[in-house]
Amino acid sequence: MKVSVFIAASLDGFIARSDGGLDWLEAAPDPDEDYGYAEFMARVDVLVMGRVTFEKVTTFPEWPYAGKRVIVLSRLLRELPAVYQERAELRRDLPADLVEHLRREGCTRVYVDGGLTIQAFLDAGLITDLTLTRIPVLLGSGIPLFGPLDRDVRLQHQATRAYASGYVQSTYTLAPV
Ligand SMILES: NC(=O)c1ccc[n+]([C@@H]2O[C@H](COP(=O)([O-])OP(=O)(O)OC[C@H]3O[C@@H](n4cnc5c(N)ncnc54)[C@H](OP(=O)(O)O)[C@@H]3O)[C@@H](O)[C@H]2O)c1
Repeated sequence: MKVSVFIAASLDGFIARSDGGLDWLEAAPDPDEDYGYAEFMARVDVLVMGRVTFEKVTTFPEWPYAGKRVIVLSRLLRELPAVYQERAELRRDLPADLVEHLRREGCTRVYVDGGLTIQAFLDAGLITDLTLTRIPVLLGSGIPLFGPLDRDVRLQHQATRAYASGYVQSTYTLAPV
């Protein structure tokens, strides 16, 4: 089973401003280019996101994951807001337990999203591949993609593609721990 990250970050490594703002990302220079997102999503059978990312998505004009299984991880939330209960499942498993649970269910590709959530799955040695799109902007501060780790995490570079927009996308694989 693949456990994948597909994310955009500023050149200095932030995935959102400190207040969660994504304006720097939404002002895309080439709105017709999706940087492989639709193709990636087509192969995902479950999206696992952190509670903070979920709350950001709930501010979007529409739920972008219609037809896709979504799991929201939170220890704080007791239940999802009513309108999202049909759209997503709330869980609080340890990353390794969740991955094992999804593997037993027959999932083939899990998409892990949200900074702290990605960090926890990386630290647990569960991420198998990471696609990082670097946006040529320095934000100076914000919500970081990466954070402290108990040990080094080595990645194997697979490919890098530079887009005319200046976005640079690199794909890495990781040896599962
Ligand atoms: N640039 C991009 O492509 C991109 C992509 C995704 C997200 N974002 C942005 O990144 C920001 C969110 O990232 P973030 O690092 O702040 O947070 P996050 O990873 O989205 O959410 C963190 C929260 O997830 C919950 N969580 C994580 N692992 C858990 C586990 N194993 N069990 C139970 N709960 C768990 C906890 O919620 P509780 O506190 O409720 O316990 C934790 O506080 C948002 O602004 C979002 O818009 C950007």
